[in-house]
Amino acid sequence: MSAVVVVGTQWGDEGKGKVVDVLTEKADYVVRFQGGNNAGHTLVINKKKHILHLVPSGVFREHTTCVIGNGVVVDPEVLIGEIEELKKEGIKVGPDKLLISEKAHTIMPYHKALDMARENKAKGRKIGTTCRGIGPCYEDKVARKGFRLVELTYPDHFKEKLRVVLEEKNFILKYLDAEPLNFDEIYEKYVEYGKYLKEYLTDVSLALWNAKRQGKNILFEGAQGTFLDIDHGTYPYVTSSNTVAGNACCGVGLGPKEIDMVLGIVKAYTTRVGEGPFPTELKDEMGEFLRERGGEFGATTGRPRRCGWLDLVLVKTAVRLSGINAIAITKLDVLSGLDSIKLCVGYETNGKRLESIPAAFWELGNVTPVYEEFKGWKEDLSSVKSFEELPQGAKDYLKFIEEYLGVPIYMISTGPERENYLLLKEPFSA
Ligand code: GDP
Ligand code: IMO
Ligand code: MG
Repeated sequence: MSAVVVVGTQWGDEGKGKVVDVLTEKADYVVRFQGGNNAGHTLVINKKKHILHLVPSGVFREHTTCVIGNGVVVDPEVLIGEIEELKKEGIKVGPDKLLISEKAHTIMPYHKALDMARENKAKGRKIGTTCRGIGPCYEDKVARKGFRLVELTYPDHFKEKLRVVLEEKNFILKYLDAEPLNFDEIYEKYVEYGKYLKEYLTDVSLALWNAKRQGKNILFEGAQGTFLDIDHGTYPYVTSSNTVAGNACCGVGLGPKEIDMVLGIVKAYTTRVGEGPFPTELKDEMGEFLRERGGEFGATTGRPRRCGWLDLVLVKTAVRLSGINAIAITKLDVLSGLDSIKLCVGYETNGKRLESIPAAFWELGNVTPVYEEFKGWKEDLSSVKSFEELPQGAKDYLKFIEEYLGVPIYMISTGPERENYLLLKEPFSA
C-alpha cells in the first residue's frame, strides 16, 4: 500500500502521461489534483495515440479508479467530450470508474473569453497561455466568485449567482474589447452539464482516505511542471496552480503523511511552450533537431515547443521543492545519434556563479548556463532491456544526472509506446 506522486520537474510535457500509464499497472487509483485541460498527456498503446486533458492517465487500465480532485479546474464541455470519446472507443468511464470532486471549480465560458481577450490585448506582455480559461477560473475560486461543480446541480441557486457574476464579467469583457456573453445560453448549457456530471460527483477526500486504509496503491498524476508553479515557477510566465507535489494533498483533501513517495519526471532535454525565460534554449539547428526528433509540438495547442539542453539547475531545485525521492528519465532515445550532448550544471551572471535561481524572470533570462559536455551514442535504445545494455555514452549521462541530483533513477523511458521503458525500481514498493 502506498501513495506515489508523479510531478514534472521542468516546464511540463516531460512525459508524465506515459510514465503514469506504465506505473498504473500497479495502481488502484490514479488521481489528478491540479490544473485543468491546459494539460495534454499522451499515451501510446498498441500504436494508437491517446491525448488526455482531464481524465487521469490510468483510464486505459481496467482495474483502476480515476479521480479528479478538488484542486482541478474542470471545463465540463471538455470533460464530457472526453468521457464520450472514451466510451466510443469501448473504454468504461462510468461513475464507478471516474470519481469527480464536488468541490472542483468550473471553467465557465467567460473564463475562456477573458483568457483569450487578455492575451490578445497584452501584445508584448503575453504569457502564451493555452487560452483554456485556467487562470481566470482559479482567480474566481480565490476571489470566492467561482462555481464548484456541485453548484451546477442546484439550478435555482446557480441561476441567481450566475446573474450577478456574469454582469461583472461582461463589464470586464467589454473593457477588453471582447463580446459580452448571453446569460440564458450559459445557464441552459451548464444546468445540462450539471445533470450529466451529477452522478460522478462525490467526496473524493473520503474515497481516497478509505482506499488508503484498505491498502490500495494511489498514484497522483501531476500536470504542468515545477517551473510553471504559481509560487515557485518563472512568474508571471507560469500557470495558475501549484504544480509541486505538496499540492497533491490540498488538491484532494488528504494530509501530507498520506504521501509515501514522490517521483520526478525528467525529460532528457528541456522544452517549454509559451513565453518566459529559458536559459538553455537552443535557437539553432540543435534545437530544431530536438523538436523534430522528439515530436515537440504541444499536445493541447499544437504549438511548436521551444527546445534546449537538460538544465540540472532547474531539476535539482525541483527535487527540493517537491521532496523528490527518485526520478524517471524520459525521451532518452531522442538523443541517440548526437556526437555530443550538453548538460547545464550552473548559472553565471557577470562571471559570478549563482547559488539559486533568480526570482525576477528578467534576471533568469540573462544568466549564462555553465555546461558539462558528454560523448553521445549512436545506438537505437528502443529494444534495450536493462541498464547494462545501454550504450556507454548513455550510461555516463545518466550516472552524472543521478550524482548531481542526489536521487536515484527508477525508470528510463526509451520511446512513446507503453512497452518502451526500463524499470530499475518499482516506486510502489520503494
Ligand atoms: P506530459 O504532458 O508530461 O504527459 O507529456 P506530453 O504527452 O505532452 O509530451 C510527451 C511526448 O513525448 C508525447 O508525445 C509522448 O508520446 C512522447 N514520449 C513520452 N515518453 C517518450 C519517450 O521515452 N521517447 C519518445 N521518443 N517519446 C516519448
Ligand atoms: P502538461 O500537463 C506545457 C503553459 C502554457 C503557458 C503557461 C500558462 O501537458 O505538462 P495556462 O493556460 O496554464 O494559463 O498557461 O503554462 N502550460 C503548459 N506547458 N505543458 C502543460 O501541461 C502546460 N499547461 C500550461 O503554455 O506558457
Ligand atoms: Mg503535455
